Amino acid sequence: MQPKVITLKVNGRRHAVASMPNVTLLYALRDLGYTDVKNGCEKGDCGACAVLLNGKAVNSCLVLAWQADGAEIVTNAGLGTLDRPHPLQAAFADTGAIQCGYCTPGMLISAKALLDATPHPSDGEIREALSGNLCRCTGYDHIIEAVQLAAERMGE
Ligand code: FES
Ligand code: FES
Repeated sequence: MQPKVITLKVNGRRHAVASMPNVTLLYALRDLGYTDVKNGCEKGDCGACAVLLNGKAVNSCLVLAWQADGAEIVTNAGLGTLDRPHPLQAAFADTGAIQCGYCTPGMLISAKALLDATPHPSDGEIREALSGNLCRCTGYDHIIEAVQLAAERMGE
């Protein structure tokens, strides 16, 4: 099997990558330096590797890099910067929704996809949207609070 040159469009930047057919998007992104995409379980259980693929939250460990050829990919680093954080990123910091932070990039991606589709979600809708993202540290309540706060601020 030969590598194929694919185009990964990540956070507005285009990368031409020679990729083998069995390489996951998770590995391709981390090899490109997008280490904000976390490797947790590699089997779709934890959500740490979530990215937006054409606007939809997916676990990048379950997507082959070839399947993302030409698609628009957004990682947590593409949502905002330290100087100009996305309201979700700011709300996570403000509410103490980040402890070790390993789950945070994936949580933020799932939360972003939720607010894009449902700008004012209920508590239950937030919990449902984040149900594929596991956190070992926070007990989830601060994370739910952070998404509610971001939704409020974005609606102002
Ligand atoms: S690393 Fe992809 S879901 Fe856990
Ligand atoms: S903050 Fe540590 S796993 Fe969520």
